[in-house]
Amino acid sequence: MPSRITDASVEAMLTREKAHFLQRNPKSRTLAEESSRYWLRGVPMHWMVDWGTPFPLFVQRASGVDLTDADGNSYVDFCLGDTGAMFGHSPPELARTLRQASEDGFTTMLPSPDAAIVGRLLAECFGLPFWQVTATASDANRSVLRWCRAITGRKKILVFNGCYHGAVDETFVSLENGAQHPDPALIGEPRDLNELTRVVEFNDIPALEDALSPGDIACVLAEPVMTNIGMVLPDAGFHEALREITQATGTLLVMDETHCMSSGPGGYSGAHGLNPDAMVLGKPIAGGVPAAVYGFSEAVAERIRSYLATRAPGHSGIGTTLSGSKLQLALMRTMLETYFTREAFAPLIELARRLEKGIADVIIKYGAPWHVVRVGARVEFMCSPNRPRNGGEASRVIHRPIDMAIHHYLLNRGVVITPFHNMMLVCPATTKAHVETLIEGLDHCLAELV
Ligand SMILES: Cc1ncc(COP(=O)(O)O)c(C=O)c1O
Repeated sequence: MPSRITDASVEAMLTREKAHFLQRNPKSRTLAEESSRYWLRGVPMHWMVDWGTPFPLFVQRASGVDLTDADGNSYVDFCLGDTGAMFGHSPPELARTLRQASEDGFTTMLPSPDAAIVGRLLAECFGLPFWQVTATASDANRSVLRWCRAITGRKKILVFNGCYHGAVDETFVSLENGAQHPDPALIGEPRDLNELTRVVEFNDIPALEDALSPGDIACVLAEPVMTNIGMVLPDAGFHEALREITQATGTLLVMDETHCMSSGPGGYSGAHGLNPDAMVLGKPIAGGVPAAVYGFSEAVAERIRSYLATRAPGHSGIGTTLSGSKLQLALMRTMLETYFTREAFAPLIELARRLEKGIADVIIKYGAPWHVVRVGARVEFMCSPNRPRNGGEASRVIHRPIDMAIHHYLLNRGVVITPFHNMMLVCPATTKAHVETLIEGLDHCLAELV
């Protein structure tokens, strides 16, 4: 608990803000009650109640950064669907493509002419020559793990403690006091995930060497910056060491860029010259309409070709009917052509810098033992004075009651940041005024908390 923010002040704010929330949102409350008759936990996806508000806000409309809820309250959205809407809700170019696509058919089980263009754009942007489409980033990660296992003949994977890569069973293993164990919250998992997964801390090069040296790990699946447990940056030299050790041990390196795509048009890997064997891009790649892609190097492609030449006929376990559809390709083409350029990213990064600086100033003003980090257009403040170096440290500094108090405070004043931690994204529709609104909201919030 930060020294100058007491449990009592956090609790008082949360209690008051929850009452305010109830009063502001009678229609959302009614909708929540009606929905709970038909939906598990009252929502179409069970985690939607995990925002922690007394009931979820029901969103009537989302456009650019503007959200309007069922009660007519307006919000500036910095959560942006936790990256799905990283370029804003319903960006105009995408809406145009969608209107055209509605006349041309959605899914045919065959490629459309956009396939060649999208493949080229992905290769040019992200530096890997071969690509495949899935419906979600979770699917993309699962598919990549299968290919890696198939071509290496190795069963295990390695992830970093505190990671999140979507609904990918093998990644839900974490470290506690040096011992790894499957996440007890995982629903209905019958396998002993310890047998499939090794976990080490991010930035721990000796542990990585130790884990990979037996040569039985198919791949390392990593985010270049950990973004799902607050934000944990790589130490200087960590990615170089990761690349060297994986290459020396015949382990494939997969970068999950689903969130770090906020770094620039080639993702974090492009911005920092990483050289992964495979890469996953999800969420915003089709502007928030379900689509994801994974790419791989020529060397991996060659091994896949050799593997396929000897594979038995039958189901592969990779791929779903609606993946690679005409609709996905049309939308991805628009997103790649419009937004995955240096020119499109430059103003986002500039504005995100202003947000980072504004939050840093507020932290200093109140002497709050917090810090702020930024990866391109993505900014996160964490309620600890020092940057955690790994998932274990990060999990210990996450303070759910403070986060909840801040989120409620901001929501009631028309600002949305990402639930579960304190992430904020800047998109093309975000203005300086929006950024100042958020900084001012945090300033007032801290004035009350400290
Ligand atoms: C790094 C990363 N990879 C993959 C995913 C999974 O994305 P989806 O839920 O769209 O499958 C997420 C989701 O938050 C993520 O943060």
